[in-house]
Amino acid sequence: MKEKGSSFSGSIGFVLAAAGSAVGVGNIWRFPYLCAKDGGGLFLLVYLVLVLTFGFVLLTTDVAIGRKTKKNALRAFEALNPKWKFLGKLTFLVPTLIMTYYSVIGGWITKYFVTYIISDGKDAATDGYFTAFITSDIAPIVFMLVFLALTAWIVYRGVEKGIEKFSKIIMPGLILLILVIAIFSLTLTHTDANGLAFYVKPDFSGLTVKRFLEILLDAMSQLFFSLSVSMGIMITYGSYVKNEVNLNKSTNQIEIFDTGVAFLAGMMIIPAVFVFLGTDGMASGPSLIFISLPKVFDAMGVLGQPVAIAFFLMMGFAALTSCVSVMETLVANCMELYHKPRKKMCGAVGIYSLITAVVICLGYNKLYFELKLPNGSVGQLLDVMDYISNSFLMPFISLLTSILIGWVIGPNWIIGEVERNGEHFKRAGLYRFMIRYVVPIVMLILFLVSTGFADLIF
Ligand code: PHE
Repeated sequence: MKEKGSSFSGSIGFVLAAAGSAVGVGNIWRFPYLCAKDGGGLFLLVYLVLVLTFGFVLLTTDVAIGRKTKKNALRAFEALNPKWKFLGKLTFLVPTLIMTYYSVIGGWITKYFVTYIISDGKDAATDGYFTAFITSDIAPIVFMLVFLALTAWIVYRGVEKGIEKFSKIIMPGLILLILVIAIFSLTLTHTDANGLAFYVKPDFSGLTVKRFLEILLDAMSQLFFSLSVSMGIMITYGSYVKNEVNLNKSTNQIEIFDTGVAFLAGMMIIPAVFVFLGTDGMASGPSLIFISLPKVFDAMGVLGQPVAIAFFLMMGFAALTSCVSVMETLVANCMELYHKPRKKMCGAVGIYSLITAVVICLGYNKLYFELKLPNGSVGQLLDVMDYISNSFLMPFISLLTSILIGWVIGPNWIIGEVERNGEHFKRAGLYRFMIRYVVPIVMLILFLVSTGFADLIF
């Protein structure tokens, strides 16, 4: 069921909502870490090239499928080719899995924001604080609930009055906060370490072909997660884009936004962590944000508390607009599937999200286990969900989508949609070549490596 008036009012609304989805915890807790690990400027350079090639191809594909079919993933692939209906189902699985844990992470951010509002955060900087929090019975569930309720409320209000309106307020706020914190971070001096140079200067030392491939794969998987592609989200958002909007221009703006924020996040985090904690402070994932940074805030003295408040507010904004996009995708797909109004489906998806998120929270205490994942890392319930959706499903979906578009339907289908109003799609040639040859091969390699199959073969 298509709601009446369910579209973004114009190009800016779409760009900000899509950028809201793209800019999330991945930009802030994974991008800077990968940069630090993968040779600073070298990683930046590789990432930039990938954004302009792969990022642009995958994003354009998703958005164009959405706008042209005016359907969500579940039905869109079926409309493209009835034999490929399964791809819609597979794609729908990604937000279904991500929804189980994203609000849990949102809850952690909310908890730290509140902690810094009501205290100077000295406790948060002590060893074991984060672990004690996530392994406790009630607190993670309570904070998750707050975050989830906020998400559901925005989705409940609908596309224009909810998602678009809030993105228009939140995204400029996020940019402002991240700029202020990054500038502040650059002024920090504590030791002689020059964090900025470490960040932007390409480090070619010890570079071998194998190492370069590793960097390439890191950048590639980061790109996926960061642009929210191959998970049906951009198809759903694309279906809300009016026909007169210039798709080429909008997708470029979304990429610039997402990459710009990731770059600023590195500028904000790397120098600060290096100056105060040295190389050891740089970690990936939650431990960077919830363990290393509180120590940095503590070392800043009186300024630590206000900077931490600004930081966690900015993080909260980033996570909220991403979580909204995941929930909206689920709600929109279910509305279309069951022909029920938004409010009812919002309730149903809300209940699903609540129950699964509680289970994920329990994954750190009552349901605790350690599982060795095929990519070599050891994970709990949350990591398992993250692994299945990001390392397993997303490359696989991109691979299949590129075969469908490149070989079954033909790239002209997408190019025609981009040029719908007579716009000139400058990179059409690149698009055609990438979607037919490069994307399928690289996705296959990425899939084999991240699932551990590559180790079996080579
Ligand atoms: N793109 C978001 C990020 O960079 C993450 C995200 C994943 C958002 C999946 C929505 C869905 O953090």
